[in-house]
Amino acid sequence: MREVRVDLGQDRSYRVIIGSGILWQLGRLTKDIKGQPKIMLISNPLVFDLYGAKAVDSLRGAGLTVNIALMPDGEEYKNLEQLQLMLDEAARVGLERSSVIIALGGGVVGDLAGFTASIYQRGIAFIQVPTTLLAQVDSSVGGKTAVNHPRGKNLIGTFHQPALVLIDTATLDTLREEEFRAGLGEVVKYGIILDQNLFQLLEKEAQGLLKREAEVVQEVVYRCVRIKSQIVAQDEKEAGLRMILNFGHTFAHSIEKLGHYKEIKHGQAVAIGTLMASILARNMGKIDSTQLSRIVHLFRCLGVSLKVPDYPAQMIYEGMLNDKKVKDEGLRIIVPQGIGGYDIIYNPAPDSIIEAIREAKDYPYGCRYEALND
Ligand code: NAD
Ligand code: GLY
Repeated sequence: MREVRVDLGQDRSYRVIIGSGILWQLGRLTKDIKGQPKIMLISNPLVFDLYGAKAVDSLRGAGLTVNIALMPDGEEYKNLEQLQLMLDEAARVGLERSSVIIALGGGVVGDLAGFTASIYQRGIAFIQVPTTLLAQVDSSVGGKTAVNHPRGKNLIGTFHQPALVLIDTATLDTLREEEFRAGLGEVVKYGIILDQNLFQLLEKEAQGLLKREAEVVQEVVYRCVRIKSQIVAQDEKEAGLRMILNFGHTFAHSIEKLGHYKEIKHGQAVAIGTLMASILARNMGKIDSTQLSRIVHLFRCLGVSLKVPDYPAQMIYEGMLNDKKVKDEGLRIIVPQGIGGYDIIYNPAPDSIIEAIREAKDYPYGCRYEALND
C-alpha cells in the first residue's frame, strides 16, 4: 500500500491511499477521520453492481449508517438536475453537518458528489473512491468539482477538497478497454511535461501497464498522484502553476465540444491535444523531432488513438478561442520543453496553432493503433 499526502495546511490536508484490493478498508478509514458520521454513498448502477456491496459492507461493518444514492451512468448526467436530486436525497435522509458523502465511481460521479458535498449545508466532508484510471490519476485529487451547463463543460462548480481519497487499483480490472486507454492520456501528460522518469517508466512498462499488471498499475497511479498532489499543494485554486495540468486540454475541449461531448472521450481528446501541443513545441524548437517521435511512439505502445476527428483545423482553433477564460485572459498553450519540462506560450500566432492542428491530422502515426503487438 502506498500513500501520498496532499499538503494544504493543518485543517485541509488529506491522505491519498493507493493499493490493490483495499476497498474493504473504507469503513475503518472513514471512521478514523470522521468518527461516527452518517454516510451518503453516491455511485451509478454499473459501478455499484461491481463494488457497491464491498464498500457498503465495509462501512456497515465499521458500524456506520449508509444511505445509497445512484445517478444514471454518463457524462450527460453530470448536470444541475442530478445535483438537485442528490441534494433532495441528502435532505430526505437527514444528512447533517457532520455527515460524509462518499463518491464511488469515475470522474463523473466524483465531480457531482463533490459538488453536492460542497454546497449541502454550506459544505460537508466527502471521500473519493475513484474507480477509473482517469479518476485515480487526476480527478479524485485536487478538489475541483463541477457539473456541465448547456453552454459549457464544468461551467458550474466549486473547489472542495476531499477528506480522504481511497484508490483501489484492483477496481480497474473491470474497466472497459477504451476507458482504460482514455485514462492513459492523462498519465502520459504528467510524464511529458513534469517527470521524465515517469515517461521512461511508461516506455519500459507499456506492455505491463496495458495488461494491467497490478504492480505496474499501482506504481504508475502512485507517481501520477504524487505529481498532482505537489502541484495542488502549491496552487490549489489554479492561480498560476496548476494551469500546466491543462496541457493538451485547450485543444481537447474544443474537439470535445465540436463532438457534443459524445463523439470522443475526454481522455482521448486530451491525447490528441497533447499531440497538437507537442507538434507546436517541435515547430518552436522546444522539443526536437526525436522527442516528438518518442511521445507519439509511447501513445502508440499504449494503444491510445491519436486519430483527429474530421473537423476543419480552423474550427478547432476557433473553438479554442470561445472559452470564457481565453476571452478574458488570452490564449495560453502549455507545451513540452524537452521531455519532463514545460513552457507556457502566451497568445500564440493563430497560424502556428492552425498549422499544428493540420500537422496532427496528417501525422504519420495519427491513425488508429491498438496495442503495440496486436
Ligand atoms: P466516467 O466517470 O464517465 O467513467 C467512465 C465509464 O466507466 C462509466 O461508464 C463508468 O460507469 C464506468 N466505470 C467506472 N468505474 C468502473 C470500473 N471500475 N469498472 C467498470 N466500469 C467502470 O468517466 P471518467 O473518465 O472517469 O471521468 C470523466 C469526468 O471527469 C469528466 O466529467 C471530466 O470533466 C471529469 N474530470 C474532472 C477532473 C477534476 O479535477 N475534477 C479532472 C479530469 C476530468
Ligand atoms: N485536471 C486538472 C486539474 O485538476 O487541475
